[in-house]
Amino acid sequence: MSASPHQWRIALRLRYSSRFSSSVKWVYENGLAFFGIRNSWPVIARNGHTLKKENPFTVLELAEDVGGSLASRNRRLEILHKFALSQAGLNTLDEIVWNIAKMAIAELDFEDCVVYLLGEDEKTLVQVAAHGKKNPVAEEILNPIRIEFGSGVVGTAAATGTFQLVSDTRKNAQYIVDDEIRLSELAVPIKYEGRVIGVLDSEHREENFYTAEHVHLFTTIASLASIRIDTAMAVARLQATVERLQTAETQMNEIRKEQDRERKEATAQMIQASKLATLGEMATSVAHELNQPLSIIRMAAGNARRRMSKNSADPEYLIDKLESIEEQTSRAAAIIDHMRMFGREATEEPEPIDPRAVVMNALELMGEQLRLAGIRVETQLAEDCPSVLGHSIQMEQVVLNLLTNARDAMSERDGESKLTLRVFSDHKGVHIISEDTGGGISEEALPRIFEPFYTTKEMGKGTGLGLSVGYGIVRDMDGTIRAENIGDGARFSITLPFGR
Ligand SMILES: Nc1ncnc2c1ncn2[C@@H]1O[C@H](COP(=O)(O)OP(=O)(O)O)[C@@H](O)[C@H]1O
Ligand SMILES: [Mg+2]
Repeated sequence: MSASPHQWRIALRLRYSSRFSSSVKWVYENGLAFFGIRNSWPVIARNGHTLKKENPFTVLELAEDVGGSLASRNRRLEILHKFALSQAGLNTLDEIVWNIAKMAIAELDFEDCVVYLLGEDEKTLVQVAAHGKKNPVAEEILNPIRIEFGSGVVGTAAATGTFQLVSDTRKNAQYIVDDEIRLSELAVPIKYEGRVIGVLDSEHREENFYTAEHVHLFTTIASLASIRIDTAMAVARLQATVERLQTAETQMNEIRKEQDRERKEATAQMIQASKLATLGEMATSVAHELNQPLSIIRMAAGNARRRMSKNSADPEYLIDKLESIEEQTSRAAAIIDHMRMFGREATEEPEPIDPRAVVMNALELMGEQLRLAGIRVETQLAEDCPSVLGHSIQMEQVVLNLLTNARDAMSERDGESKLTLRVFSDHKGVHIISEDTGGGISEEALPRIFEPFYTTKEMGKGTGLGLSVGYGIVRDMDGTIRAENIGDGARFSITLPFGR
């Protein structure tokens, strides 16, 4: 067994060159030749065949197998083959690194093997897998340590990108004690595309334990595993990013939900506030509305009583009066019921409602007041009209506000006051349209009328909530509400999708 003459020539030349004689040498062992630099102290000239490994010893080049028995070569191939096969089915970073540690122990006769990978800071090495004393329980590392690039034998292997072989740790100032002092150490960088991405490290209690064969195998294992490790690290980084994004997304969703809840609450409060305002306005109207049935009842009762006292009441006459009283009582009760319903907050699920009924109910509450203001109301309700999904009371509130707004606009002007209410459907959905002759909306007000608290009315008259609340109600029904000026007044158009 001997190194090739060529290699020996180089070695000899270097050994005798004055510049390198004390720092460059060949080490030949177990059929392998190492070419390297001895960093710090003078080389003790030795016979090339028996050169001992010195510390620290940086190997620049690992020469090809220049000999070795066929048996040892076969053994080496067998180990690498086994290793390659055992890695084939592994995917996660954990699986890969733990498998390396286990293989090193099982096949290379090592007592201990620790796999280090580059930490997220790209400056430290983190223990990610271990076999031996560092790993008493399956896949768990006892006191995992971090090692800085450049520090210790492992850090030096990472920083220099070359393997570090320490045959006697007592003579090596860089040696870092992990769990206990051991006398030999072998650290091999795991490199991918020229970058160091980790280190394989093994320590042994005996001095001078690691052979060139070990170096060879450990280096080959590191290079075989490197592409898988690099890919798995990239995947792990990606997964971490995905997780971070997912957490961020969950947090965003929670914030959004919270905002949504707050918005809904605020909207509900506004709806209620504006409803109360509408109720206040309606109080006069309702008084008038109730006045009518009450006076009819009073008249019917009075007439009946007078006829009875004169004994001139025939049963037919009396029945007629009593029927009229019954009718008017129901009407009054209906108005009161409606008012009461209107005051309540809507909490139920949306339900199909007839948009024509909404307009008629609103007119029932406001009709008298409009008549008193001298407004002629014209309704054009389509005979066939699909229902829409919503809360009838809320929808009524929207229409009631359109009616009061129209009334307010028209009562300030002379001339004909006419309010047209139309309900019909087309391919776009169901439309509720109100047109008045109140002079329209000014240029500056038009873009702002849907803003909460925007009003052009005098203090105490307008709240500025009507249209903004109406806008919210219609939007929640997936509909739209628009305002525009037409001829002598304003037109408000509500479009709603068909209910189921
Ligand atoms: N039919 C209309 N004609 C003219 N202006 C209108 C009409 N409807 C609404 N407006 C304008 O929009 C503003 C906001 O209306 P609204 O939100 O209902 O609040 P408020 O009625 O309390 O003022 C009104 O103050 C008015 O200036
Ligand atoms: Mg209003």
